[in-house]
Amino acid sequence: MKPGLFVSFEGIDGSGKSTQARLLADNLQARGRDVVLTREPGGSPGAEDIRRLVLEGSTDRWSAETEILLFTAARRDHLEKTIRPALARGAVVITDRFADSTRVYQGITRGDLRGMVDDLHRLMIGIEPDRTFLIDIDPALGLSRARSRAGTELRFEDMGLAMQTSMRTGFLALAKANPDRFRLVDGARTAQAVAAEIAALI
Ligand code: ADP
Ligand code: TYD
Repeated sequence: MKPGLFVSFEGIDGSGKSTQARLLADNLQARGRDVVLTREPGGSPGAEDIRRLVLEGSTDRWSAETEILLFTAARRDHLEKTIRPALARGAVVITDRFADSTRVYQGITRGDLRGMVDDLHRLMIGIEPDRTFLIDIDPALGLSRARSRAGTELRFEDMGLAMQTSMRTGFLALAKANPDRFRLVDGARTAQAVAAEIAALI
């Protein structure tokens, strides 16, 4: 198998993940790399269908346990249809969110379900990114940036500032526990300044 590179962006809503994933993809493409830019939940037709189920509707539409199943089902399809084939041909796969989002959003915010998330990950997914960029930002700034975007995918943003704050803490704890994989990046700067640091790190 050709050695592809698997990169994920993580962080709370509005931290700048999508912006930075796109800037890194543009940068590597300009250097002639085969790049697949993708996102979760989604990244394959089946997983994009599941995305609509989990991101739209009222905040109490699904229990945390049901969400873990839905996000993991979406991830499995994304892995089979998009990520594995791209890595196998030697591409750089850049994903806007991956399993760390489930560890934090479903694993800690509504009771301690981290063990269930990890068990299901081991059973159904089994891989981690080679590099994860955690874009860290003040939750109030993240929420105001996220709310300034138009759209209907507001189920998680609607859970509010206290929840964003606990998720930020959760992401920082994950980064601390996995220092080889994570790089922490300060997101409260211009998009160009953040992108320059990420380009240097990769
Ligand atoms: P995420 O994917 O983490 O939710 P986005 O990249 O979609 O974040 O950014 C959220 C909003 O903030 C978008 O409207 C985007 O244009 C804007 N934005 C992204 N990065 C920055 C930045 N460094 N400074 C100011 N605004 C930003
Ligand atoms: P995303 O589109 O990345 O939102 P944003 O650009 O605002 O960061 O992700 C949508 C939402 O899905 C986000 O609020 C986080 C949530 N999510 C989970 O709860 N668990 C998961 O496993 C994933 C991948 C996302």
